[in-house]
Amino acid sequence: MSLDNNPYAKVSDRPERAFALPGQAYVDQAVFAAEQAQVFQQGWVPVARVSDVAAPGDYLSADLFGVPLVVTNVGGDLHVLSRVCRHRGLPVVEGRGSAKALTCPYHLWRYDLDGRLAAAPGMERSAVFDQASCALPRLASEVWGGWIFVNLDGQAAPLAPQLGGLADRLEAIAPHRLVTADVLTFESPWNWKVMVENFLESYHHIGPHRDTLQRSNPGLSTYEGLGSYLFTVLENPPADEAHGPFVVAAIFPLTLMFFTEGETPLGVWYELSDLAADRFTLRIHLLASPDFAAVPEFVAHYRDQVRAIHLEDVPACEGVQKGVASPFYQPGPLSHLEQSLWRFHRHLQQAMTA
Ligand code: FES
Ligand SMILES: [Fe+2]
Repeated sequence: MSLDNNPYAKVSDRPERAFALPGQAYVDQAVFAAEQAQVFQQGWVPVARVSDVAAPGDYLSADLFGVPLVVTNVGGDLHVLSRVCRHRGLPVVEGRGSAKALTCPYHLWRYDLDGRLAAAPGMERSAVFDQASCALPRLASEVWGGWIFVNLDGQAAPLAPQLGGLADRLEAIAPHRLVTADVLTFESPWNWKVMVENFLESYHHIGPHRDTLQRSNPGLSTYEGLGSYLFTVLENPPADEAHGPFVVAAIFPLTLMFFTEGETPLGVWYELSDLAADRFTLRIHLLASPDFAAVPEFVAHYRDQVRAIHLEDVPACEGVQKGVASPFYQPGPLSHLEQSLWRFHRHLQQAMTA
């Protein structure tokens, strides 16, 4: 990367020597632009849950780092397409639904769900119109754990072979069986990495969550159980037999997941969208078995719990964003309880210097 001052240059190759990131990493537009170009474009990022486009004909539009996309279900086969019209560029669809074709509302060019241009009225006198070459581009995508991942630059190595350890750890939970029971949306005025870092350590159970998670899963007993260049797993053992363990995991850079264990696991996916250097939109997807998701009282109770925990995190995240912008902020040393943060920083360091 061409930053004068690479904020990832000093990330240690050893966790016991790890520091927090310099403030520049959270506030500098040039750092954010470099992350967009290198970390996000080159990586695998989640765009939807398979259960959101479960039936043939379903479509779901998404804007990934300003790139308008649409996920379509073509007879059970999932496609991730650019949804920018091949005529003059209007996105051909917004929102989600079910359709036989996608028709651009501007001049009614009509696309099949696999992206092929099926019809374009009034184009017969053009000497340069070539219907076959006007398909919506299809992006590299992969399904893993019930998520649809996309790789914007099309150069990333296949995802699943790099996630073997994570897949083994989550096998009993079987995240691919969980559906979205509800979604909570929060405007989040802090850098995306503040959110990732908050998610990836349970050290702070002893602070903001002292009356909630700290009682069920004490922060000082948590540990990174597994990690690689691409993912981390944070184990959260229970305080006693009255409570259960939970597991937090991330696929870098942006896939944040949480699961309870046991016979009817529950999950959470923190989807970060509309990213800017100092803000993003957080959509918390509540994941549950289809049986659970069909019972409104269960879902309401779970929603209240997840919202309460997130609201405990909000003041810390907002405050950190303010603090790291101070000229007097200096990165402090990380605890062994924050090894997953070090793992995340290593990923960023390698992605940004590749
Ligand atoms: S811009 Fe889509 S049909 Fe003209
Ligand atoms: Fe938290």
